[in-house]
Amino acid sequence: MPLFVSFEGIEGSGKTTQFEYLAGYLKNKGFNVVKTREPGGSRLGERVRAMLLKEEINISPQAELFLIMAQRAQHVEEVILPALSQGKFVICDRFIDATVAYQGYGRGLDLELIRYLNGIVTRNVTPHLTILLDCDIETGLKRKGGIRGGLKDRFEKEQRDFHERVRKGYLEIAACEKGRVRVIDGNREKNLVREEVIRSIEEILANYGIC
Ligand code: TMP
Repeated sequence: MPLFVSFEGIEGSGKTTQFEYLAGYLKNKGFNVVKTREPGGSRLGERVRAMLLKEEINISPQAELFLIMAQRAQHVEEVILPALSQGKFVICDRFIDATVAYQGYGRGLDLELIRYLNGIVTRNVTPHLTILLDCDIETGLKRKGGIRGGLKDRFEKEQRDFHERVRKGYLEIAACEKGRVRVIDGNREKNLVREEVIRSIEEILANYGIC
């Protein structure tokens, strides 16, 4: 049975580390795993990612939203839907919730509009499970600063209150969608977080009758 799991969290929440751990775990269990990410995942998406994160160009919040939606449409069409239709296990580093959290809560764009656009570009393909790694802003930004040695992308450069709003947004999404979104405390040591991620995955596998 095809399964789709997304990872979400603020900057430095440990999401990408846990994502890689999980990919290895699932491969060891014999699943045909497709690892992907947003922005990105397709050739178009990776170009949009470079534009959004790295290039020193002015991008308005609304232009940012539509660039993200464009890369998502391509990603779903070119990567996610074909993989799911072949019965693969898709894991995605950020997806629909990032837009609600960053462009909605962070930038202040209309949440209903974002949900509506998400529905269109994904054709309502929704993850079976979303792992939200929640952590303090301080912890997250400190980790990011450490990894990148102070080199920041467009989102990391945002002020603390932006990151606070994004975090709040994620937690509100989780509160509204308890069935899909699992909040895991990402402040802790990575092996403890890993154990909890694996437990969540095992639960979902059991729920779908997959061992
Ligand atoms: P990451 O490599 O940490 O996931 O960086 C991707 C950045 O893109 C992150 O700062 C959040 C941002 N982003 C949005 O603002 N909206 C979105 O919908 C997605 C998928 C990512």
